[in-house]
Amino acid sequence: MIKASNIHKNYGDLHVLKGVDLHIKKGEVISIVGASGAGKTTLLQILGTLDHITESKESSLFINESNINQLSQKQLSKFRNEQLGFIFQFHQLLPEFTALENVCIPAFIKKTPKAEVEKRAKELLDFLGLAHRYDHKPSELSGGEQQRVAVARALVNNPKVIFADEPSGNLDSEAAENLHQLFFKLRDEFGQTFVIVTHNQELANMADRKLVMVDGKIVG
Ligand SMILES: Nc1ncnc2c1ncn2[C@@H]1O[C@H](COP(=O)(O)OP(=O)(O)OP(=O)(O)O)[C@@H](O)[C@H]1O
Ligand SMILES: [Mg+2]
Repeated sequence: MIKASNIHKNYGDLHVLKGVDLHIKKGEVISIVGASGAGKTTLLQILGTLDHITESKESSLFINESNINQLSQKQLSKFRNEQLGFIFQFHQLLPEFTALENVCIPAFIKKTPKAEVEKRAKELLDFLGLAHRYDHKPSELSGGEQQRVAVARALVNNPKVIFADEPSGNLDSEAAENLHQLFFKLRDEFGQTFVIVTHNQELANMADRKLVMVDGKIVG
């Protein structure tokens, strides 16, 4: 599903990623752990095509057989919208839209017909226990509910991979636990692939594989 070789990232003189190699299979739940500043978010942004690899002849990134380095900006936006899903620490829902509308937006961008999108969005919200919250705006939802709306939004286009950066960092322990179980339920029921950056040891240990980042490299 994901094959990354020799990934480097520099910010000016700062060498943040120092040759990361990674191979992730379909249906795997991968956790990435490591000290603050190790480069976890940077790596996730690159794998998620939100940021660029610093030029290196031997670097390559393949996601679902697509060679990411060879896509134009326009192709990349389309690829990201159709094949990848994102969950962030702070849900990043749009405040002026309802839960249902927030979930629909990536599918509207993909130009899926409205009726089909709303049906799918409602199914997802129902599945996530939010059938009674379609019309609530983010400020009218609890933290755990907001994060579940973000999960539904990440899933609406049936992505090949979901990237999550500290998805439960902002939740109390019960809401975090529920969110973690949800990830594994989505994997078991739909074969969903996840790459999750987390400081939560419990979640990290539940993953199929735990990758440890130290100073810009994966060490185990
Ligand atoms: N846009 C940027 N410009 C310059 N330096 C950056 C930029 N983004 C990140 N860095 C630096 O790169 C290093 C890695 O940052 P990154 O956000 O990947 O760490 P992290 O492992 O996710 O840490 P945390 O656990 O605190 O989220 C840090 O030292 C950070 O200061
Ligand atoms: Mg980070």
